[in-house]
Amino acid sequence: MAIYIDQEKKLFTLQTRNSTYQMKVDEKGVLLHTYYGEKADESDFSYLIGPFDRGFSGQPGDACGDRTYSMDYYPLEYPVLGNGDFRVKALLAGPKDGPAALDLRYASYELWDGKYDLTGLPALFAGEDTCVQTLEITLKDLYREVYVTLLYGVFEEQDVITRAARITNREKEVWTLRRAMSLGLDFLQGDMDLIHFYGKHAGERQLERRPVMHGIEEISSTRGASGHHHNPFMILSGRDTVEDYGACYGISLVYSGSFKFQVEKDQIDGLRLVGGLNDEEFVWELAENESFVTPEVVLTYSGQGLTRLSGNMQSILHKHLIRSWWKDQARPTLANNWEATYFQFDAKKLLQLAKEVADLGLDMLVLDDGWFGKRDDDTSGLGDWFVNEKKLGCSLKELVDQVNGLGVKFGIWMEPEMVSEDSELFRAHPDWALQIPGRAPVRSRDQLILDLSRKDVREYIKECIEQILSSANIEYVKWDMNRSMDLAFNVTEPGVSQGAVRHRYMLGLYEIMEDMLTRHPKLLLEGCSGGGGRFDAGMLYYSPQIWCSDNTDAIERLRIQYGTSFGYPMSAVAAHVSACPNHQNGRVTPFKTRGICAMQGAFGYELDLNKLSEQEKKEAKEQAAFYKKHQALFQSGDYYRLNSPMDERAYTAWSYVAKDQSKAILSVVHTDVYANPKRIRVRFKGLCEKTSYRINGEVYTGAALMRGGYVLPVPECAYDSCMLLAEAADILQ
Ligand code: DGJ
Repeated sequence: MAIYIDQEKKLFTLQTRNSTYQMKVDEKGVLLHTYYGEKADESDFSYLIGPFDRGFSGQPGDACGDRTYSMDYYPLEYPVLGNGDFRVKALLAGPKDGPAALDLRYASYELWDGKYDLTGLPALFAGEDTCVQTLEITLKDLYREVYVTLLYGVFEEQDVITRAARITNREKEVWTLRRAMSLGLDFLQGDMDLIHFYGKHAGERQLERRPVMHGIEEISSTRGASGHHHNPFMILSGRDTVEDYGACYGISLVYSGSFKFQVEKDQIDGLRLVGGLNDEEFVWELAENESFVTPEVVLTYSGQGLTRLSGNMQSILHKHLIRSWWKDQARPTLANNWEATYFQFDAKKLLQLAKEVADLGLDMLVLDDGWFGKRDDDTSGLGDWFVNEKKLGCSLKELVDQVNGLGVKFGIWMEPEMVSEDSELFRAHPDWALQIPGRAPVRSRDQLILDLSRKDVREYIKECIEQILSSANIEYVKWDMNRSMDLAFNVTEPGVSQGAVRHRYMLGLYEIMEDMLTRHPKLLLEGCSGGGGRFDAGMLYYSPQIWCSDNTDAIERLRIQYGTSFGYPMSAVAAHVSACPNHQNGRVTPFKTRGICAMQGAFGYELDLNKLSEQEKKEAKEQAAFYKKHQALFQSGDYYRLNSPMDERAYTAWSYVAKDQSKAILSVVHTDVYANPKRIRVRFKGLCEKTSYRINGEVYTGAALMRGGYVLPVPECAYDSCMLLAEAADILQ
């Protein structure tokens, strides 16, 4: 049992293997947040609050005379506007033409085995796991028939608690939500660091760590996508927390659209986190008896540092979020033609690539952008999802059959959410694009966004996808999305709340993906948004892997993949070997190093295989064979960051260890070269101390490799690298 309820004290204690989370209904019915952290017992932690008469703190109406009772500094479970709390709020709601105000009080609870789901939204599921419980706590406004149900999913063994909220209007008049966050989380002691993952196109998820200062800090996206620039995964940690030591909280929003996290350090050094949908353009109307459900947020606590926290996140997302048939299958090693040909290709060229794919022992050829409509550059053709047979020189089926005939699988690129103004689709349906009548559209990459909040548009897209997928043996889709959303306005329903369009767009997108996967359950979907612009837990519900970045330079990828590893499984990180000089930054790195970096995730190639030298072909064959031989370890081994590319100039190291500790692969890339170099000793992690491991013919104990380390060979050139395979030799007595 994971959830303990003391009916008399109205105390709710959520227990996971290593953490405890607690709420309490106080004497006025307010739901206080009393504890979240290291595993404790079911003691009532409300004694920690310590009421005090603080100047300028508000008292709710029924606390008349008691100046020590104030929502302005009490730790609350779901803070709202309207009861004297002046910190950041989770919910702003009120009658359509009236002021936003709520004062939520406890009404009831429900407890059941299993995990709630959120219809239409991605969310964790229990699967085979029986140790998952759901708690629903319903709060009601003190004055009006408006209810908030807080949903908790407790994954006891995984140290994970999920949260979401359902807001229901039982008033006759329409109510308006101006902000509806997935969670509020209050900490009495706010002396913490904020670790987040900022970035840009071709430079996603760069780790940044800073102490939380007084005031409000925000990590957010208003781009209609989670975005390259910030990620909806963040960490709050102790000031002294490092990889293997200290307390930390991981927070991951299961949503792929605009989001917002706010962290406020308050007047008495407490800390409040609120997170969920970005409310910048959000207005959602609730008619009588309607409900609004927020996206889910996944929480995990580690008292043993960041490695454990990442392990918890990686494992819960892998086991309880990713549904794909492919999740535990060996993912196809592939060659993508984007950096090989860009828009200049025909079937002959693609077949030459396919032959090399077969020859190198890879599994799949992926045909990227440019095969449909009029699409010889990125200014036209989006929306016209019919095959350009003139360009190809044959039908798609003929091409795919020939590729399959070589023993190679076939995958295809699509960007279904978009439309080019120079397209048949736009000429026929200019109103299908998101735009504000009377204003020039905001263009980006010369394309507009289709209004997925509209059913007719969604049905058209579903049909286009189906026609393509059923026309040939297509086993993989790379689903791209190459611009940020601006001017989101639904032209067919100008009367309805335009503030709902962005979220309705996301619900529409999820509906289309669900439809595609229901029709093609064994399709491997790879998410993409100009690289990793939508690398989030929401997408992982549909696509078990995501193109991590448009930056294919091995050295920059070290930082991008390092940042990504904190919140996401490495099997989700699509990574390819590309040509040198690198197309994004001109850097030249050894072929070997490019291979090692790409093996950090779902492995493939992104270059013209026909242009490889004989030596490179030999290396590519060896890389593909090595990856396949150890694919289970790469895909599902425990992942360890052995140092940080943000802090260490000389090298970056990481490793995978088999769950049974019988095998490990440690990779090192030298990021700088030195004359008269010092010898680098890299310490393994996660091995069995008493097992002896063979590396390059020599035998070392796990204890020696973890405490003393392994002495790396001296790099022979710039950006040299090495990969060490450690295999258990025998068990020492
Ligand atoms: C952006 C993607 O990230 C690239 O890999 C490629 O598919 C291009 N779009 C194609 O337009």
